[in-house]
Amino acid sequence: MGEDRPRILLIHGPNLNLLGKREPQIYGTLTLDEINAKILQQAQQLAMDIEVMQTNHEGVMIDRIQQAEPDGFDCIILNAAAFTHYSIAVRDALASISVPAIEVHLSNIHKREEFRHHSVIAPVVYGQICGFGADSYILALEEAARIVRGA
Ligand code: DQA
Repeated sequence: MGEDRPRILLIHGPNLNLLGKREPQIYGTLTLDEINAKILQQAQQLAMDIEVMQTNHEGVMIDRIQQAEPDGFDCIILNAAAFTHYSIAVRDALASISVPAIEVHLSNIHKREEFRHHSVIAPVVYGQICGFGADSYILALEEAARIVRGA
């Protein structure tokens, strides 16, 4: 049962474990657990299986991205957090796999400090969704459903 359900890997990057108390004026007051609960509910509605993880470590993120293809994931949703702006290694990992990835940010990185305007991963992802708070993830899931189902 459920074998042909799309499989989504969601990776939350560094400091996102602190959501709720981390700069709530920018990132909102929901905790990561509360955001994940919304995401799991939406994945259920879209009949998709989702695995969710958070890491503060660049190497762990890279290992997980590399493993996404052998593990049979159909799409990655990635909030690489600060790594977005400087990790060529995360960029290269995404470029090395054929699993499509959607870049997500809670905040609108383009209207914040200048160092956040540039994403080194943007050229190697399917698309970027930012600025909608926790709903950025919901929008990414809906888009992942369309990408995976070829719609
Ligand atoms: C973030 C934006 C990044 O610039 C920042 O380093 C984060 C979170 C976001 O979700 O808005 O940690 O990715």
